[in-house]
Amino acid sequence: MTRTIPLAVIPGDGIGREVVPEALKVLHAATEHEDVAFELHDFDLGIDRYLRTGDMLPDAEMRQIAQTEAILFGAVGGRPGDPRLAGISIERGLLLRLRFDFDQYVNLRPALIRPGVSSVLGPGARADFVVVREGTEGAYSGSGGVLREGTPNAVATEVALATHHGVERVMRFAFDLARRRRGRVTVVHKNNVLVHSGGLWQSVQDEVSARYPDIEVDYLHVDAATIHLVTTPERFDVIVTDNLFGDILTDLAGAIAGGIGLAASGSIDPERRYPSMFEPVHGSAPDIAGQGVADPTAAVLSAAMMLDHLELRGQGDRIRDAVAADLDARASTGPRGTAEVGDALAARLT
Ligand code: IPM
Ligand code: MN
Repeated sequence: MTRTIPLAVIPGDGIGREVVPEALKVLHAATEHEDVAFELHDFDLGIDRYLRTGDMLPDAEMRQIAQTEAILFGAVGGRPGDPRLAGISIERGLLLRLRFDFDQYVNLRPALIRPGVSSVLGPGARADFVVVREGTEGAYSGSGGVLREGTPNAVATEVALATHHGVERVMRFAFDLARRRRGRVTVVHKNNVLVHSGGLWQSVQDEVSARYPDIEVDYLHVDAATIHLVTTPERFDVIVTDNLFGDILTDLAGAIAGGIGLAASGSIDPERRYPSMFEPVHGSAPDIAGQGVADPTAAVLSAAMMLDHLELRGQGDRIRDAVAADLDARASTGPRGTAEVGDALAARLT
């Protein structure tokens, strides 16, 4: 019997609208001979909708999305300095609302320097690690505010929230993941200065690592971690870190592993109470949007992560193999547009 998988599709803004159709094209090509059918539910969300109607993510649509099995997300965000968006955060109202309300506490971001891909680190650089970024807490929590706004005495706070529950569950996920990989976890924080939240991360690290005697664990301050990421990236297997540090480190990880155009991610609820969301690490790139030149590979690889999550790992692997072959062939293909890359990947799968 054919398995029908309801999927929420949110292309969002800018190049998100260009790369998501290519990811869907490749997803269909990878699964067309399987007994699965994706039932696509398109959601028109993002800046244009907001400017037209004032809606970022209405509750009724949130309920519809909650009924799906997974979300394929493009990108969100407008042109910096757009006066129509002054003082509003569609990132918070749309993307972070999905991550928070669906309790997607694991933000999974693999970084692999594929053979044949030239890394900015130079020939011979090796990296094959996964960043497990906490997805629901930290400085992203929304706790804080502004007093005496607009006066010379204005005071602003942005509270980096860490809960034992929140840190423990993401730490356990990282240790479980390391068991299925090379058995090594690096915890990244800044506990020499952020003694309150960093201290909690430290004590949870101690508690959890005691339960995983087979896993090798070490700790790095986030500033030192940036050095190791560019000098000895091969030392990392699983990195677990808080929301903001993870945001920053995964842009760096993307840059060293072939560029942000290849960096995929999943915002995951491992307990499967809610749909998980798969999205390229890159943003809406308003500077190149509308030109059909964005690389859809990050969105395609995010769709492959979605297949893994949907227990269709074989099909996810087929997509990753097609991407690897496409990257190998890049030297001889010359510059290609967004749809050309999508077509080439789909052709490798049919
Ligand atoms: C990312 C993005 C988001 C984040 C923004 C758009 C809210 O930078 O997915 O890395 O900061 O998490
Ligand atoms: Mn980011």
